[in-house]
Amino acid sequence: MKIAVIGTGYVGLVSGVCWAELGNDVTCVDKLQSKIDQLNSGKVPIYEPGLEQMMNANRTAGKLRFTTSLAEAVQLADLVVIAVGTPSLPNGEANLSFIQQAAEEIGQVLAGYAIIVTKSTVPVGTNERVAAWVGAHTSQPFDVASVPEFLREGSAVRDTLHPDRIIIGTDSERAAAALESLHRPLTDQIVRTDIRSAEMIKYASNAFLATKISFINEIANLCEKVGANVEEVATGMGLDQRIGGSFLRAGIGYGGSCFPKDTQALIQIAGDVAYDFKLLKSVVEVNQLQRRSVLEKLADSLGHLNGRTIGLWGLAFKPGTDDVRESPAADIMAALIEAGAVLKVYDPIAMVNFKRTYYNAAGSDDNIIWCEEQWEAVLGSDALCLLTEWDAFVQADLQRVESLLRGSVLIDGRNVFRLEQVASTGLRYYSVGRPALKRERSETASL
Ligand code: UDX
Repeated sequence: MKIAVIGTGYVGLVSGVCWAELGNDVTCVDKLQSKIDQLNSGKVPIYEPGLEQMMNANRTAGKLRFTTSLAEAVQLADLVVIAVGTPSLPNGEANLSFIQQAAEEIGQVLAGYAIIVTKSTVPVGTNERVAAWVGAHTSQPFDVASVPEFLREGSAVRDTLHPDRIIIGTDSERAAAALESLHRPLTDQIVRTDIRSAEMIKYASNAFLATKISFINEIANLCEKVGANVEEVATGMGLDQRIGGSFLRAGIGYGGSCFPKDTQALIQIAGDVAYDFKLLKSVVEVNQLQRRSVLEKLADSLGHLNGRTIGLWGLAFKPGTDDVRESPAADIMAALIEAGAVLKVYDPIAMVNFKRTYYNAAGSDDNIIWCEEQWEAVLGSDALCLLTEWDAFVQADLQRVESLLRGSVLIDGRNVFRLEQVASTGLRYYSVGRPALKRERSETASL
């Protein structure tokens, strides 16, 4: 198939590369000349394992191109894929202006029948609006379809090539047949549905996963109070096939570009039709509160935070990505600084993005020391907090942590260390939903 992909963000770029890998002829379009130049020089603007290599192999094979010319890409395409951003408006609603602009431009240049697929996460009813926006600018025949994307950052290529299911929402037989044959090499699990249900499946899936996380986080908080261990609880629960074991890892809450945005958007969608989505509102609130649990544990172990030096390991919202959008680390850092702490922070991949997103590019803030390597963040700190479960942190030598810290407090926001492992050190250890190893405060004098 000849495919034009509009938007080279996560979804657009990964989908385009993977479709080329499957043997299709793909042109990716972006308005940003600098981004297209970068892609044409063989560089991927995001950190995504395996993507750059696959992209360059397909560029070399002539199956994948990048351009700023939407007209050039769309005129030749059988399939036009809209994968532009839908950022949140201040009220949580999805901003559809990029979708509208793309749809109108597609309408202006359509040269013959095409299937127009929306991959961006969009409110229910948007694809019908896409049809109207395109139709207002063309007399060419076209069909629209919603094919939502479920890829995760950090495993985007694998998720795209091995999806659990493909959802095809369209009222056109012709479009459905073409999209089924495009996706058939990837999975047999293809669900054909109406457009509105396809749009809802995406939101409902993300909202449900977010609910699972907030649920297990609340169980974890309860476990701390009643003396149970949330990992044992999650294992025991997850073996029930009706529950399933995934997304039951307790921690400091979810972040990223999807769950926070999509849960807010679904609350807004419900509000628009006068439906009060109470459960989802609580999921969001619990997630926000969960970030505070790090501060509470620090205050509990150190007494007060003013003037303390706190080492932070991990700024990305999860490992395997340099994405820092809605990262719990941002809120935690702001709250710690507000409480008067000095921070020594380190992330193996996301430092530059984090500084650019939350501080000025130079990262200049008197209360933050941006460390060159992970042990610098530990050296002389009163406590170390692990916020992202990067391998380098998971495998860290805890004796070394203990010897480099000025204090002896380790807050593990992702439950990466085994309790027995920590018990063999002198660290005072707080994780999430598991018994704390409080010990005597032998270092009190030095604090
Ligand atoms: C998510 C969805 O998984 C994906 O289907 C959708 O297309 C986009 O949103 P992503 O944001 O890349 O993907 O990351 P994911 O791996 O799902 O993790 C999201 C957040 O939840 C992370 O902050 C992670 O740390 C957190 N999480 C995940 C938990 O706290 N506990 C878990 O058990 C699982």
